Amino acid sequence: MNILLTGGAGYIGSHTFIALREAGFEPVILDNFANSHPVVLERLERITGRPVTLERGDVLDTPWVEAVLRRHQPAGVVHFAGDKAVGESVANPLKYFHNNIGGAVSLLRAMAAVFADGSAPALPTLVFSSSATVYGDPASVPITEDFPRSHTNPYGHSKLVIEDMLSALRVASPAWRIGVLRYFNPAGAHPSGLIGEDPADIPNNLMPYVTQVAVGQRPHVNVFGGDYPTPDGTGVRDYIHVQDLAAGHVAALQALLTKGESFTVNLGTGRGVSVLEAVRAVEKASGRLVPYVIAPRRAGDVAQCYADPSLAKRLLGWEAKHTLEQMCADAWRWQSGNPNGYRG
Ligand SMILES: NC(=O)c1ccc[n+]([C@@H]2O[C@H](COP(=O)([O-])OP(=O)(O)OC[C@H]3O[C@@H](n4cnc5c(N)ncnc54)[C@H](O)[C@@H]3O)[C@@H](O)[C@H]2O)c1
Repeated sequence: MNILLTGGAGYIGSHTFIALREAGFEPVILDNFANSHPVVLERLERITGRPVTLERGDVLDTPWVEAVLRRHQPAGVVHFAGDKAVGESVANPLKYFHNNIGGAVSLLRAMAAVFADGSAPALPTLVFSSSATVYGDPASVPITEDFPRSHTNPYGHSKLVIEDMLSALRVASPAWRIGVLRYFNPAGAHPSGLIGEDPADIPNNLMPYVTQVAVGQRPHVNVFGGDYPTPDGTGVRDYIHVQDLAAGHVAALQALLTKGESFTVNLGTGRGVSVLEAVRAVEKASGRLVPYVIAPRRAGDVAQCYADPSLAKRLLGWEAKHTLEQMCADAWRWQSGNPNGYRG
């Protein structure tokens, strides 16, 4: 059973590729390598022992996406492709509205066209990469899926608009089966150490930043805010191992394909970890000292953000299994084995 992964060469997509293959699906990657490197494909072939099918191109190119769907007849599509840097989205909002919202519209139109003319027999089935960012500044924790949604930057806004588009589509066309996954903070890497997060620039996420400091590429970690109302004063987040996240996509596709019910679920661990706890965990995994500096709070950051993941367990039979220690050990194996990521 083919599954199309838009953005499948990226961080979460590449890990999901392996999990899907292990579960008996045949994933096909669609990517333009705007934020990834073709070397990942060789790594995926090494890990899974089989060739990888790639469709190289832009999800914004609707006629081409239609042709890809006709060629591979996927039973489902996972839509990872998009831009994800919050700071960049503030500086360049149109890029985010164009690529994220425009990319989703393009993909959905291609899927709708192929379904409507009968050239792909499968019902339109989609898993969408949303984010805990749609909860804005949550009034309390843990966060359940019925919390009010808001946005604090154009990236978050783009996710919210896409979620709303998907709801409208479900109302208009009940044949669509849609799973919206709200990821909390993905971290870690495949245990082989062959694939992992490879930020092109200064990492936006804490974990790769901390491991880059541990490996000696950056002098220290800037801890934004040491006076939050949290146990050690630093921000608390829900770090989820990318392997658990990958398993969540398999569970989501299986649920959509067998039960046919759409859903929106959090993918998190339910455990909040402070910045300093994360720094100490990387120190332990790497055996290196990670210097840090307490810096002023960043606009738009919230004190605490962690999931109530019970709905995903109830609906998908999925829950996160990896510990913070495993996450840091895997992130360190990847970072220390590939200090320059896929660029060698
Ligand atoms: N990593 C996180 O912290 C996080 C958290 C919540 C949600 N998400 C969402 O999950 C998805 C995947 O995130 P990731 O961390 O793997 O990001 P990533 O940047 O590593 O992967 C995205 C992939 O999409 C590709 N891409 C971008 N625009 C494209 C286009 N127009 N056409 C074809 N390919 C395109 C990129 O080349 C890249 O390979 C994104 O939608 C992101 O917003 C990520």
